[in-house]
Amino acid sequence: MPIINRIAEFEAEMTEWRQDLHRHPELALQEYRTSEKVQARLREFGVDEIITGMATTGVVGVIKGTAPGGAIGLRADMDALPIHEETGAAHASQTPGVMHACGHDGHTAMLLGAAKYLAETRNFAGTVYVIFQPAEENYGGGRIMVDEGLFTRCPMDMVFGMHNWPAAPENTFLWRNGPTMAAVADIEITVTGKGAHGAHPHRGVDPIVVASHIVTALQSIVARNVEPVEAGVVTIGAINAGTIFNVIPETARMLGTARWFKPEVADVLEHGVRSLATGIAASFGAQAEVIFRRAYPPTINDADATALTVKAAAAVAGDTRVNELAKPTMGGEDFAFMLEKKQGSYIMLGAGRTAADPMPHHPKYDFNDAVLTTGASYWATLAEQLLPRAG
Ligand code: NI
Repeated sequence: MPIINRIAEFEAEMTEWRQDLHRHPELALQEYRTSEKVQARLREFGVDEIITGMATTGVVGVIKGTAPGGAIGLRADMDALPIHEETGAAHASQTPGVMHACGHDGHTAMLLGAAKYLAETRNFAGTVYVIFQPAEENYGGGRIMVDEGLFTRCPMDMVFGMHNWPAAPENTFLWRNGPTMAAVADIEITVTGKGAHGAHPHRGVDPIVVASHIVTALQSIVARNVEPVEAGVVTIGAINAGTIFNVIPETARMLGTARWFKPEVADVLEHGVRSLATGIAASFGAQAEVIFRRAYPPTINDADATALTVKAAAAVAGDTRVNELAKPTMGGEDFAFMLEKKQGSYIMLGAGRTAADPMPHHPKYDFNDAVLTTGASYWATLAEQLLPRAG
């Protein structure tokens, strides 16, 4: 069974939804318009119940089959990023400085497509929860929904996630068992020295020089402290200090990210960042304040649940177009919070971009509408396969 024909019939509609969301992106926990649009469509589809309020803008549509049975959750994310769009597309963001640069507009549209089909056909027994969560990026909307009772208010046997994967061929799937996406920590380091005239450095303690030594030293943590066969990343993504040619500022502030899979690696990274930053600062006569905030756990797919996703994906795309993701990725994903509490799996949907094309989180990235039907068909097939009608 390839893509679901009934879903293909509303591809144009899904494209319209997706491009409308793209025009009106909203940042984490502020997805008010998006949430309203999702609710309005679910109402129009005739779902049995719409649950709102979890994680501020979260929406769960409840769709019941023709008989009692099990329950599963299908999850999409709704938030955009603080990036100024440069695609030049007709449906480009109308909000300066905010854009759907990760394809969450497409994720929402695909799950809406599946919800429309499932509410119309009800060719399953049991309950499907379509979960539209806010704040996948940086604010852990998935964690907030779990904390606010997602799995108690919506009791389900398994939960599933999906992300577009531009680097894989269009309308293919990539699956992986076990650790798949990395755990994430946010790093903030504030170095406080002593300000001075740039011509009289001996009267101050230059926090920029101290920060430079810290950035260089942090590169040694993964290289020299993490066991070579294990995965770890420490990246400093921002340094802010000073304003003008000839003034040594008082402080320098750095922002960074750390990634890992194993808790013992997390401990090595955290200890390394803290001790190098504070030790180096002290040796220069400065002070470093270090925040190492463990934000997201690793995304770990359950093997049995993954096997079910592979079967559904193969039914839609064909066996040869469903492949194992060769290596885990150091990207983070807040679906990890749902997988901590509930059996489930997270699959990637190939979107056929080449290495030269802009990738997610780039100002020129745009979701590929040519995969909407495949993605929505996958969701609907997964539901029908996992919740079969008797006879
Ligand atoms: Ni994303």
